[in-house]
Amino acid sequence: MTGIFDSGVGGLSVLRELLKLLPGESYLYFSDNAHSPYGDKTGDFVLQRSRAIVSDLIEQGCKIIVVACNTATSAAISQLRQEFDVPFVGMEPAIKPAVLKTRSGVVGVLATAGTLKGEKYHTTRDRYAEGVAIVEHVGRGFVELVEQGRLSGPEVEKVVAESVAPLVEAGADALVMGCTHYPFLSDVIQKVASSLSPTTEFSIIDPASAVARRFLSLRQKQEDYNPQWEQKSGDYQVQFQASGSDENLRRLYELYVLNQ
Ligand code: DGL
Repeated sequence: MTGIFDSGVGGLSVLRELLKLLPGESYLYFSDNAHSPYGDKTGDFVLQRSRAIVSDLIEQGCKIIVVACNTATSAAISQLRQEFDVPFVGMEPAIKPAVLKTRSGVVGVLATAGTLKGEKYHTTRDRYAEGVAIVEHVGRGFVELVEQGRLSGPEVEKVVAESVAPLVEAGADALVMGCTHYPFLSDVIQKVASSLSPTTEFSIIDPASAVARRFLSLRQKQEDYNPQWEQKSGDYQVQFQASGSDENLRRLYELYVLNQ
């Protein structure tokens, strides 16, 4: 069984990619919605929560953990790797593919405050961003919209425009989704960016499919791996748990993963 966690429903954008590559595996998805959002909490708080969640997932039989949250990856993954004896897959800020994609020479990164101030993000940016300008912005209010299942309409566009406009005005044409909640807003982000700069062709970059490929290669090496999991037969095996109510999580799984 694979464990996967996030502060809320954002990790569903990663789970849907895992299900494409390994539809027959069993997944246990944990949403820490009683402590969400993580983005404005201290790194220490996010580490404590991640540690407690991972310990619980392993106790329930998970053989590998996907940290489907950029903020938790940044705050906790190196420590988790030292403390627990299972493989971990974390989120990578997708600077490298964005640098390859940009034509304007400006990459825009949308992420939480926690991710943007983390060491991991700075290291990645310094490694890959040579010759390209990077502009950053917190996606203010994005997590709340996605948790409420609100992905379109004039009010959503207004919230999205406030964080996307500074990146478009700085000349960014490649926009990195640096938080796992944000890909659910990619249509509206694309629409808002295009209306602000109609002549620019925008690329929205979501690292989830690359993370899923990394997950698959690690999972394939494990003793209990069964190649039949690569075929879909019947319903997905996904269990949900949450620190608060799991009702919203189940509803949004239907909407974001099953009915997309
Ligand atoms: N989805 C998470 C991330 O990727 C956390 C968002 C939040 O809780 O602020 O960063």
